[in-house]
Amino acid sequence: MGYKVVVAGATGNVGREMLNILAEREFPVDEIVALASRKSLGTEVSFGDKTLKCKDLDTFDFTGWDIALFAIGSDATKIYAPKAAGAGCIVIDNSSLYRYDPDVPLIVPEVNAHAIMGYAKKNIIANPNCSTAQMVVALKPLHDRATIKRVVVATYQSVSGAGKEGMDELWNQTKAIYNPTDNVPPSKFSKQIAFNVIPHIDVFLDSGETKEEWKMVAETKKILDPKIKVTATCVRVPVFVGHSEAINIETEEFLDWQEAQDILREAPGIMLVDKRESGGYITPIECVGEFATYVSRVRQDSTIENGLSLWCVSDNLRKGAALNAVQIAELLGQKVLKKG
Ligand SMILES: NC(=O)c1ccc[n+]([C@@H]2O[C@H](COP(=O)([O-])OP(=O)(O)OC[C@H]3O[C@@H](n4cnc5c(N)ncnc54)[C@H](OP(=O)(O)O)[C@@H]3O)[C@@H](O)[C@H]2O)c1
Repeated sequence: MGYKVVVAGATGNVGREMLNILAEREFPVDEIVALASRKSLGTEVSFGDKTLKCKDLDTFDFTGWDIALFAIGSDATKIYAPKAAGAGCIVIDNSSLYRYDPDVPLIVPEVNAHAIMGYAKKNIIANPNCSTAQMVVALKPLHDRATIKRVVVATYQSVSGAGKEGMDELWNQTKAIYNPTDNVPPSKFSKQIAFNVIPHIDVFLDSGETKEEWKMVAETKKILDPKIKVTATCVRVPVFVGHSEAINIETEEFLDWQEAQDILREAPGIMLVDKRESGGYITPIECVGEFATYVSRVRQDSTIENGLSLWCVSDNLRKGAALNAVQIAELLGQKVLKKG
C-alpha cells in the first residue's frame, strides 16, 4: 500500500522536478494528482513514463489525500495550505510562508530529521530556501566535529531560483545581445542579468541586507543551531541551474583541512570533489540533475585561529527545493504515516 500524493505547482520549475524525483526515487505512490492554476487546466506534465493532466488547485478537494507537495509561492500558499492541512493532508511547502513559524518544522533530513514530529501542530512542514539547504548539509558534519561559531558566505545563485520567468529572461536577453534589434529590458530582475551579476535577491530590509540574505541567517539558526552567527551576500548570476557558495567558517576547535575533507567525504548527501588542480572542483553545470551537494576547494583560512574555507555547489531545483521536499515525504512515510 502506498500514498495518495498531491503536487501543487506542477507546471513550475520546482513542481516538475518534484514529479521527476518522486518517480526517480520510486516513492510509493498509489495515486498522484498534478495541480496548478486554472489557466493550466489540462496542461500535461510527466511523472516517470506517465503523463498527468493538471487540475485546478482552486477547486481541488484534499480530503483523503496523504501528502501535498506545494511549490506555488507564498500568496497562493496562504490560501491553499491551510485548506489542505485542515482536510487532513500533510503539506510540505516550498514557499517561505511557514519557514519561521515556531509551530512548523523546517527540515533538511541530513541535518534535523528529528524535528519532523513537530508537523502535527499545523499539519505543515516547511522546506528551506535553496541557498540555505545546500549550505547546512555541508556545515552539519563540520559543526558536529568542531562547533561552528561564525559563517561568512557569498552566493552565486542561478536564475532558475527565480522561477520559469527568471530563466526566460536570461534566455531572451542573451539572444538579444546577439541580435540587437531585439530589446529585452529587465523585468524579473532589477538589472540586465545576461552577461552580468546582480547583488540583490528578494527585497531590501531596513538593515541594508536583502531578505534572501536574512533567510540564510534565520534558517541556518532554525535548522542547525541558533548559536551560529551567519553573514551572507547573495548574488544572482547568469547561470540557468545550480547555486554556488563560497563559505568561510570559524570553529571553536581547530579542524585541519585534511580532516575536514575526510569528514565531508563520509557525510550524508555530500560528494567531495577536491583535487587541488585545474578542473579538480565542481561547477554548477556539472551538478544539474544530481542529488548530491558538492564540496570542493576545502582549505585552511590562516587569517583566524580556527578557520576553513570551501566551495559548495548544488542543483537548486533538487537539493534546494524538490529533492529536499521528497526526502521529507520519505521521512514522513518512515516516521509517521508508515505505509508503503
Ligand atoms: N526555484 C527554486 O530554486 C526554489 C527553491 C526553493 C523554493 N522555491 C519556492 O518554490 C515555489 C515555486 O517556485 P518555482 O521556481 O517552481 O516557480 P515557477 O516556476 O514560477 O512555478 C510556479 C507554480 O505555481 C503555480 N501557481 C502560482 N500561483 C498559483 C495559484 N494562485 N494557484 C495555483 N497554482 C499557482 C504555477 O501554476 P501556473 O503555471 O498555472 O501559473 C506554477 O505551477 C516558490 O514559493 C519558490 O519561492 C523555489
